[in-house]
Amino acid sequence: MELEGKVVVITGASSGIGLATARLLLEHGATVVSWSRTRPKISHPDFYFFECDVRHDHSVWAAYEQTEERLRQNISVLINNAGIGIQGALDSMSPKDWLTMMDTNVNGIFYCTRLVLPGMKRMREGHIINISSIAGLMGSENLTGYCASKFAVRGLSEALYKEVRNYGVKVTCIYPGSTDTHFFDNFEGATSTEYMMKPEDIASTILHSLQAPLNYHQVNIEVRPLMPKGPIPAKKA
Ligand SMILES: NC(=O)c1ccc[n+]([C@@H]2O[C@H](COP(=O)([O-])OP(=O)(O)OC[C@H]3O[C@@H](n4cnc5c(N)ncnc54)[C@H](OP(=O)(O)O)[C@@H]3O)[C@@H](O)[C@H]2O)c1
Repeated sequence: MELEGKVVVITGASSGIGLATARLLLEHGATVVSWSRTRPKISHPDFYFFECDVRHDHSVWAAYEQTEERLRQNISVLINNAGIGIQGALDSMSPKDWLTMMDTNVNGIFYCTRLVLPGMKRMREGHIINISSIAGLMGSENLTGYCASKFAVRGLSEALYKEVRNYGVKVTCIYPGSTDTHFFDNFEGATSTEYMMKPEDIASTILHSLQAPLNYHQVNIEVRPLMPKGPIPAKKA
């Protein structure tokens, strides 16, 4: 898709992957809209922020209405990026934490996607990008809730692409490995390393997928750091 002048909505562009993606897509001429709780530190004539908590249908609806009213242009791309992870063994996780993850990571995608799809179907062009995780491809201990939510993102994405492809709408699910963002701030024992991916790496993956010619789509993209623990030390001669 040619991004120049197209409206791209990113959920959670206030930090990490969402922020890096917003900056990159602005550089490529898109009009970028962030639906998040915090105003992103971006100052650009083609950038808009509408406060939104994706856990709540009414909040998403309000952000959508403000976007339509202000921009008066169809949304061409939705990047469902907002997400949180809460660690913990299943039997020590509170229902509140469990539901917060499900509401943010899964229900938020439903609330946002259902509003933008009719316009995309009418235009016969659109692209939904969902950010899952490696945790949406394989289970990890003490991440049951997060894994369950990210597996759900995969299921939703794979079903949705079959539903909308013949309207010219693409659905791509991205599965990043460890990326150096604020995501791990509340994770016990997690420290950022130079071997993690950078949020800009995922942003460039998103851009690559958006720029694919209209006749094909990338359905699933798994992205991992090349050497998550660093290079194997060279043998002494
Ligand atoms: N970092 C990694 O290693 C990694 C790996 C795989 C997948 N991911 C996924 O990548 C996505 C982005 O995470 P990140 O790594 O960039 O982490 P991050 O720096 O913590 O960013 C998370 C973003 O989500 C937004 N957000 C959280 N709850 C929200 C809510 N209720 N409503 C609206 N926005 C909300 C935050 O904005 P506000 O707080 O301003 O609302 C923030 O902009 C997430 O879906 C995460 O699961 C991350």
